Amino acid sequence: MLKQCLSGLLGEEEIGLLHSSFDVIGDIAVIKIPPELSEREQIIADTILAKMKNVRTVLKQDSPVRGEFRTREVSYVSGEKKFTAIYKENQCLFKVDVSKVYFSPRLSTERKRIASLVKEGERILNMFAGIGSFSIVIAKRVECLIESVDNNPAAYELAIESLKLNKRMKGTVKPILSDALEYTKRHKGSFDRVLMPLPERSWEFLPAAIASLDERGSRMIHYYVHVSEEQFKDKGWIHSHLGSIVSDKRFDVLLWKKVREVGPRYIQAVADILVS
Ligand SMILES: C[S@@+](CC[C@H](N)C(=O)[O-])C[C@H]1O[C@@H](n2cnc3c(N)ncnc32)[C@H](O)[C@@H]1O
Repeated sequence: MLKQCLSGLLGEEEIGLLHSSFDVIGDIAVIKIPPELSEREQIIADTILAKMKNVRTVLKQDSPVRGEFRTREVSYVSGEKKFTAIYKENQCLFKVDVSKVYFSPRLSTERKRIASLVKEGERILNMFAGIGSFSIVIAKRVECLIESVDNNPAAYELAIESLKLNKRMKGTVKPILSDALEYTKRHKGSFDRVLMPLPERSWEFLPAAIASLDERGSRMIHYYVHVSEEQFKDKGWIHSHLGSIVSDKRFDVLLWKKVREVGPRYIQAVADILVS
C-alpha cells in the first residue's frame, strides 16, 4: 500500500528498496528506512501521515531490538512529536512508550491463543512481562492470578498505567519489578503455568521456571525461542534442546509452532511444554 502511495514521488528503484510493512502502535507508525533512502525519509513519513488517518506520529527505527530490555532506538520524523501511544488489542488497552519498552503488535494472535488455554483459578508467572501485554489479555478473559515480572522500570510503570486503563477484568495482574531469575527462584512450587517470552535467552531461565511449577498444578510452560528454519522443521530439535538443558525431567511438547519470522530463514517459535 505504501509503495503504491509513493509511486510518482519516489523513483522505481527507490520504491523497490522500501520495506513492505511497518508497525503501527496506536497512532504511532514506526518505519525502517534503508540507508540509501535516508534523504527521502521526510517524504515517506509525510505520505504515511497523509494516507493513514489513524496515524498522528511517524518515528524511524534507528537500531535493531537489542540489550537486556529488548528496546529499539527510535527518532522523530513527522507529525506530533511524541513517543507514547495508547494501543488497543483483544479488547484491551495498553500504554506504550516505543522508545523505552519492547512491544510488538505482531504478537496479538499469540496473546489471544495463550489466553484461550488458561483455566479459571490458575496461578501464572509471566517471567518477561514487558508492559504486561500477555498478562492483561489473559486477565481480561479468565479469573486467575498473574505475577507479571520485568526488570525494566519503564515497563513496570507502563504495566501499572495499562492496568488502570482496563476495567472489568476477570483476573488479577500483579506487576513486579524484579530480575526474573531471582524472583522465580524465590517462588519454588508456586505456579500452574509459566510464560517465557524472551526468545533470545529463555533457555537460561528454564531450570528455575520448572522449579517454580506446583507439583499438583497444570505444569505448563510456554517456551519461546529463536531458531533457524532447519531447526524448526527438525521434529527432534526441541526435545533434544530441552533435554540438553534439563535432563532429569520428562517433557511432553504439546505444540511446536511458528509465531512469526524474525529474519531471513530465522523464526520465533513457541513450545507448549507439559513438565512431568
Ligand atoms: C521480548 S520482550 C517481551 C515483552 C512482553 N512479554 C511482550 O511480548 O510485549 C522481553 C522482556 O523481558 C525483560 N527482561 C529481560 N531480561 C530480564 C530479566 N532477567 N528479568 C526480568 N525481565 C527481563 C525485558 O525488559 C523485556 O521487557
